[in-house]
Amino acid sequence: MSATSVNEIIDNFGSKTKFYDQYSRIQKLSGQMLLERIPDLNFQRVLDLGCGTGFFIPNLQELARQVTCLDASEQMIGFVKAHYPTVDTILGNFDDLDNYVKSNYDLIVSNYSLQWSQNLPKLFASIPRCSTKKAMFAFAFPVEGSLSELKQAFRAIGEDGFINEFYTEAQVKQYLADAKLNNYSVSVTTETVRLVYPGVLDVLRSISKVGAYTNTNEKREHRLSKKIIRDLVQYTQKNSEKANVFNISWKICFIIGTRV
Ligand SMILES: C[S@@+](CC[C@H](N)C(=O)[O-])C[C@H]1O[C@@H](n2cnc3c(N)ncnc32)[C@H](O)[C@@H]1O
Repeated sequence: MSATSVNEIIDNFGSKTKFYDQYSRIQKLSGQMLLERIPDLNFQRVLDLGCGTGFFIPNLQELARQVTCLDASEQMIGFVKAHYPTVDTILGNFDDLDNYVKSNYDLIVSNYSLQWSQNLPKLFASIPRCSTKKAMFAFAFPVEGSLSELKQAFRAIGEDGFINEFYTEAQVKQYLADAKLNNYSVSVTTETVRLVYPGVLDVLRSISKVGAYTNTNEKREHRLSKKIIRDLVQYTQKNSEKANVFNISWKICFIIGTRV
């Protein structure tokens, strides 16, 4: 990932707060899959990292007595405050958790946000300091292998760098090992989810409408132009197996940590 400023990433998300829930198809699916992996253990306090609009707050409220939502976007946090007045909020950067969070959570969750972390090793290493002695964490985020069809289509028209690099599963495992979470039993699994869109434009639109369009790829040499989009549409229409079908794969990494 390039050193794109976190401000650019969160401004882009913030600007789409109103549309987010309407277009966050993969995020909702992933959140559901993540919730299925969290046992009902009568949690006291849950912390949601990169909460966005807080779509899963009602589910988190069933799991824990108190929900705290952290996001670096003022608009996202404003949305959460307006819609869920009983929830605690923290306007903060999850790459700098020690500055924002006290150690009193027995559940830390994050859905479809940590791919934007610019320092995943530091974030993982901060977990014990944010947690109570008996705590668990549950994260889901896309890793390398995601959006491969879109990447391939860009390459086929001679363009590179328009799709962000994701952390690889091996990197995630290495960062977790480096974080020395000795008191936790940690499982890392991946699942590939395939979504069907009518065409490549719908995919680009869905990424744009949730604000997830900040380009952090150092290989990109120029901006996305109308010509590139036209070439992309033409290429995908010519090369798709079925008319009006464009498949998109997301490889989602699920990390579940339980304190032993
Ligand atoms: C794709 S949204 C996911 C929102 C929500 N968790 C969901 O499942 O719908 C990613 C969120 O992460 C937030 N975010 C990105 N980088 C962040 C950072 N460094 N610190 C805190 N929040 C961040 C964005 O503002 C955005 O709200």
